Amino acid sequence: MKQNERASFGSKLGIILATAGSAVGLGNIWRFPYLAGENGGAAFIFIYIAFVVVLALPCMVSEFIIGRRGQANAVRAYDLISGGGPWRVIGLMGVLTGFLICSYYTVVSGWCLEYIYASAAGQLKGDPDYIQRFFSSFTVHPWKPILCIVLFFLMTHVIIVRGVEKGIERASKLMMPLLFILLLFIVVASCLLPGASQGISFLFNPDWHAVTGSTLLAALGQAFFSLSLGMGALTTYASYFTRDTNLTKSAAQIAGIDTLVAILAGLMIFPAAFSVGVSPDSGPSLVFITLPNVFQQAFSFAPALGSLVAVMFYALLSLAALTSLISLHEVCTSYLHEEFHITRSRGALIVTSVCTVIAILCSLSFADYDWLTLFGKSLFDLFDFTTSQLLMPIGGFLTCLLLGWFVPRHVVKDEFTNGSTLSARLFAVWLFLVRFVCPIGIAIIFLNQFGVI
Ligand code: TRP
Repeated sequence: MKQNERASFGSKLGIILATAGSAVGLGNIWRFPYLAGENGGAAFIFIYIAFVVVLALPCMVSEFIIGRRGQANAVRAYDLISGGGPWRVIGLMGVLTGFLICSYYTVVSGWCLEYIYASAAGQLKGDPDYIQRFFSSFTVHPWKPILCIVLFFLMTHVIIVRGVEKGIERASKLMMPLLFILLLFIVVASCLLPGASQGISFLFNPDWHAVTGSTLLAALGQAFFSLSLGMGALTTYASYFTRDTNLTKSAAQIAGIDTLVAILAGLMIFPAAFSVGVSPDSGPSLVFITLPNVFQQAFSFAPALGSLVAVMFYALLSLAALTSLISLHEVCTSYLHEEFHITRSRGALIVTSVCTVIAILCSLSFADYDWLTLFGKSLFDLFDFTTSQLLMPIGGFLTCLLLGWFVPRHVVKDEFTNGSTLSARLFAVWLFLVRFVCPIGIAIIFLNQFGVI
């Protein structure tokens, strides 16, 4: 690389896999299947895809435009496209969100590492009460979760320090295909179980009666969370896109991969759960309590296969979490590196150290220490709430306003069409969505979750 030339991804495939890696995370595996199951199966999937196309994709393209135009970290990219002024706050919010999510996401990612080990060592065998106790005693163990957090951050750190092309891109090109292979293996194993067809039809039978107003909101919120919108991650990655990257097409491909993984996750969880008559829930209890039981019972005819599936499942989750964490870490590292003129490795070291300390505090907050409780929530819940329910929608909303109403149209159009080398056919549709439909959609989810409407 020449001096002063900014780092960038080396290939189109690298761009798609790295950005899809940011989007595909725990949300795809522990939230989407459950939401689909609760909200009318295929009916939900259909509504979800419609929201992705109409609302999330335009927002994703907006973040791409800002990042690639700026060729800089999230804060400076917002500053540059808006011509200076208050809009850089959106970038700063992104960096803050990156720090916060990095800290609590790693706690859960660390649990996945421990569960890979526990499944391989045969420690996850026993009745449901035992599995429940295993989980609750592990999360409050004085050093085990902390060790896992440190290991997870070390992996992230090593990848980030190696740089954009040699670190992030290479790791994504290795990890994303591996993630797919693991996922497909478990889907096949799960769908071949006796009674699996019930689970498949639960997921794919459209039940339009189950669709209510809250279904729509759940689909919209999930679309934003799953595609990592409103947090500076996509802006930062887009600053490494090449000049000839077709932004709309890439966004569509990334959203397609993300949705496919979410649907496959449903095909992995429901058939197995139905075959043993367990109704799946969501979140940590699904992943760390319900599923170990399900795998154990469903594969009781071949316990070794059951353990293998469990090991693969936690490896899959760890990979999904790692590729997302890398992007969050990169938001913070690139900010420190470029704005404070320190080396990339030093920036990464600061992010890793600060986040490790906060993550350890988050992890300790499970043990009910009073001094780790704020506003009546544990540190972990507080971070989760602040990021996904406050900062993310606000960031997305302001981004739409900025591009739709404030940045001169020719600048936006120039970036959208790669300097008029691509067709501008979709531009008017995109602009309309970003000006009106997206901000209204986001405002509705935001106000609804606080009970205002
Ligand atoms: N999309 C991730 C998931 O599905 C979660 C997430 C939200 C995220 N915002 C992010 C990941 C920003 C990385 C960067 O689990």
